[in-house]
Amino acid sequence: LASLEVDLSKIQRGTTTTVKWRGKPVFIRRRTADEIAKENAVDLGELRDKQADADRTQNPEWLVVVGVCTHLGCVPIANAGDYNGWFCPCHGSHYDASGRIRKGPAPENLEVPEYSFQDETTMIVG
Ligand code: FES
Repeated sequence: LASLEVDLSKIQRGTTTTVKWRGKPVFIRRRTADEIAKENAVDLGELRDKQADADRTQNPEWLVVVGVCTHLGCVPIANAGDYNGWFCPCHGSHYDASGRIRKGPAPENLEVPEYSFQDETTMIVG
């Protein structure tokens, strides 16, 4: 199956849920207002892979990223690391709450997969 339907109604603000899509983990993070404000305030000049938070989300409350570190493919740990996004324990890459690489060896931000909202509580990944 190419796409996956995800029920968003049980995902609490400030938490990350992992689903499996095409054999890979996909992280769905329901962000708090503070997290959204913080990510939007980041100066793009500080970033290795310069992407604005607004360009990585359709609705800022929901961040969706493929859970594969862009260094050598380990699965990062959610709500961890120096930027309270993800931490990859393999070689120490830190991602922010927009999935953008901030520190460590990974060259790129976590990939945003294709997804859409079917209705207020249903997301289709793929
Ligand atoms: Fe994630 Fe190397 S695979 S830091």
